[in-house]
Amino acid sequence: MNETVADLIDQDDILIDQRNRPLRDLRISLTDKCNFRCPYCMPKEIFKAGYKFLDRQSILSASEIIRLALIFKDLGISKIRLTGGEPTLRNDLLTIISELAKIPELEIAMTTNGTRLEELAVPLRDAGLNRITVSLDAVDSATFEKMNDVSVPLEKVLNGIDSARKAGFNPIKINTVVRKNWNDQVIIQLVDHFRNTSDIVRFIEFMDVGSTNGWNMSDTVPTKELLATINNHSPIVPTEINYVGEVAKRYQFVDGSGEIGFITSVTQPFCGTCTRARISADGKLYTCLFSTAASIDLASLLRTEKDDDLILEKIGMIWKNRNDRYSEIRSQIDSNEEQENKIEMSYIGG
Ligand code: GTP
Ligand code: 5AD
Ligand code: SF4
Ligand code: SF4
Repeated sequence: MNETVADLIDQDDILIDQRNRPLRDLRISLTDKCNFRCPYCMPKEIFKAGYKFLDRQSILSASEIIRLALIFKDLGISKIRLTGGEPTLRNDLLTIISELAKIPELEIAMTTNGTRLEELAVPLRDAGLNRITVSLDAVDSATFEKMNDVSVPLEKVLNGIDSARKAGFNPIKINTVVRKNWNDQVIIQLVDHFRNTSDIVRFIEFMDVGSTNGWNMSDTVPTKELLATINNHSPIVPTEINYVGEVAKRYQFVDGSGEIGFITSVTQPFCGTCTRARISADGKLYTCLFSTAASIDLASLLRTEKDDDLILEKIGMIWKNRNDRYSEIRSQIDSNEEQENKIEMSYIGG
């Protein structure tokens, strides 16, 4: 029999889905807004003035987020990742983090575009944020500005990363989405920039998430190609996983100058070990990044149901019935309707 994630985690009495995958990570989107317009995520032509973002009342409050975190903790999660859009645009971010940090044995991580880290790195650390990941697609100004599409200068994000390092975040992970003919030519520069630091660059294959970014398979640079390019420049070898269900495949430079990673969601899907649940900023639960419909409206439930045990039971049932594996069956899904209704990355947070 094949070994499953549940076997590897080796715990009795854990909640598992239809494919034997436990619930381990919760990703909560704090807002669907962002100050960038990366064309692979929020193309300007669509996310322009007049675009209907979530309204204020529909967004989960800080106390609702904490209530959900406690329920999910009882269901077995050990990590919460805060995402967006851009999570640092949320006014009560530090309150949310300091409340989450009070929950024992729960790791708090956040993915950000780094534009507000110069002023926020120290307060975030003080609030109890454990880990930080910064999205950065290039370290040459022209490519970086083309990738964010709102003329934010590269220095802003590089200074933010420095501030985070000084505040004690270690390692910092750098997420780089690689898109053919956009930034694939400047990857080595990025690798070299972060070598000999404790930061870990992870290259993400451009994915067909959402339905507005005009994704085409030919825009995705297969990890195999990227790996060969980097290996030719400076040899790398695979290294052991940090935890069961880790998204990135880890590599180390043979010369000891650091670590990099590859997120191969298109060419080598990792649904078999997917332990992630996602909650949108308006409190809908999704059991896959590529879902077309929410499993449940948790915001409404929280607002009408006082008994947390009942909410826990409902979520537990949803996880038990979960059978998602979109990336593994991507090529077989040909219904246009299904492809067109996929939720946007800026709404569900990657
Ligand atoms: P750590 O391992 O805890 O550092 O974090 P992570 O790698 O899970 O989180 P991060 O948000 O940095 O994930 C990196 C990127 O991988 C995301 O932004 C997505 O683009 C992609 N990704 C993460 N989880 C999934 C997933 O479940 N499915 C797919 N297809 N892609 C994912
Ligand atoms: N494909 C792959 N990664 C993406 N991200 C956003 N859109 C896409 C896409 N289409 C990444 C961002 C960020 C994280 C939230 O998701 O770069 O690191
Ligand atoms: Fe904003 Fe991140 Fe999407 Fe870029 S990828 S538009 S920074 S949410
Ligand atoms: Fe998990 Fe869905 Fe991504 Fe597969 S495609 S790894 S099931 S989120």
